Amino acid sequence: MSQEEIRSSVKEYVAAIFQEEPTGHDYEHMKRVANMAAYIAEHEGADPFICEMAGWLHDVTDGKLTDDENQAKENLHTFLYKLPLDTHAKNAILAAMKDVSFKGKHIIPYTIEGKVVQDADRLDAIGAIGIARTFAFGGNKEQLLHTEVEQNGSEPGTSIQHFYDKLLHLKGYMNTPTAISLAEERHAILEKFLQDFHTEWNSFS
Ligand code: ADP
Ligand code: NI
Repeated sequence: MSQEEIRSSVKEYVAAIFQEEPTGHDYEHMKRVANMAAYIAEHEGADPFICEMAGWLHDVTDGKLTDDENQAKENLHTFLYKLPLDTHAKNAILAAMKDVSFKGKHIIPYTIEGKVVQDADRLDAIGAIGIARTFAFGGNKEQLLHTEVEQNGSEPGTSIQHFYDKLLHLKGYMNTPTAISLAEERHAILEKFLQDFHTEWNSFS
């Protein structure tokens, strides 16, 4: 089995899980993260194939995207075990997938491949696509776009609030110089969007 055949097999596996995912964690998110991770890896001296594979697979065991996290982990191990990759490569893929989530934004992966995949996932959360994903997620969770009314006496759990809670901080959490540079423009897109959003909001409310 060539790298191309392994790639096809991984894509098929990911498509079966995420094809219909409605919160911005769909097959296309995995594809962008995989391709971005391979690109960053080329510039950072990381292994592009390991980064790409971990990019494709990085969300398959995420607790919020699966009903049964342990089963998802078992399925992934069974799937990886059957691929004609040596143990070193399989372990490198698993290590690079670990700790990617920015829920634990203070967790810095200990391998360069992990750092690269984490950067790629974070880059997909900002910029124009990041904005689109945020409202897809918020809509799916029946969250408001924005409100000035206090919600249960706490910070409003709105999609606009998510920009201030998380997205605007991601630029500062990038691990690699390549991602830091890619994040600049995407961060500026978030800032411009928020400015325009508030201008329109304040015009008629
Ligand atoms: P990870 O992919 O690292 O697990 P999350 O799933 O928390 O991180 O975030 C991924 C994407 O989901 C973000 O880019 C964001 O667009 C969206 N998202 C997560 N939480 C919220 C939220 N509370 N409101 C709106 N969007 C959210
Ligand atoms: Ni992701």
